[in-house]
Amino acid sequence: MSLRLGDTAPDFKAKTSIGELSFHDYLGDSWGVLFSHPADYTPVCTTELGRTAQLKDEFARRNVKVLALSVDPLDKHHGWINDINETQHTTVDFPIIADEDRNVATLYDMIHPNASATATVRSLFIIGPDKKLKLSFTYPASTGRNFTEVLRVIDSLQLTAEHSVATPADWQHGEDVIVVPSVSTDDAKAKYGDDLKIVKPYLRYVPQPKKK
Ligand code: BEZ
Repeated sequence: MSLRLGDTAPDFKAKTSIGELSFHDYLGDSWGVLFSHPADYTPVCTTELGRTAQLKDEFARRNVKVLALSVDPLDKHHGWINDINETQHTTVDFPIIADEDRNVATLYDMIHPNASATATVRSLFIIGPDKKLKLSFTYPASTGRNFTEVLRVIDSLQLTAEHSVATPADWQHGEDVIVVPSVSTDDAKAKYGDDLKIVKPYLRYVPQPKKK
């Protein structure tokens, strides 16, 4: 069965491009992004892993550790990392899991047999410091993911974990946010005063709270 939001992200031990690791221990108190790609030495995947490496400081600023995965072996990962670094003008130093026995792919339901019997699809999981699944999505092999969007949703997840707010469509860091329905308008007025903008009784905006 596939993982659902709020489930504990399954722990595993795996061989990776930076050595063997235990997933939960590796994450420690950080947030995690675990994402699969169909295969090494493929063009879209090369751009995806390159983009992820380019965004290293952005992930670090948000206390996020990133791990990639395919079912290719370690020697292939190492050779391909050189190509990614060369062609994407970056340095891949996050771990790439060599999931040859499909242990992780099975735990996270990353192989969708009607898409490919053997290759992992483009699954992505965001895991909180409590090891619970906060968000997941799946793209087909033909469509590269938007890693700026991954950072945007991490901003939303981290903000909404700390404050009783939600983020509207297309929200970007720094823009107004929505007071969640479980907070009464009286309580919202008491908390936010003149900053509260009531558009409808159920649609109430406040400036983005500061991160704690
Ligand atoms: C790619 O990464 O470019 C790719 C991989 C599998 C199928 C199609 C594209």
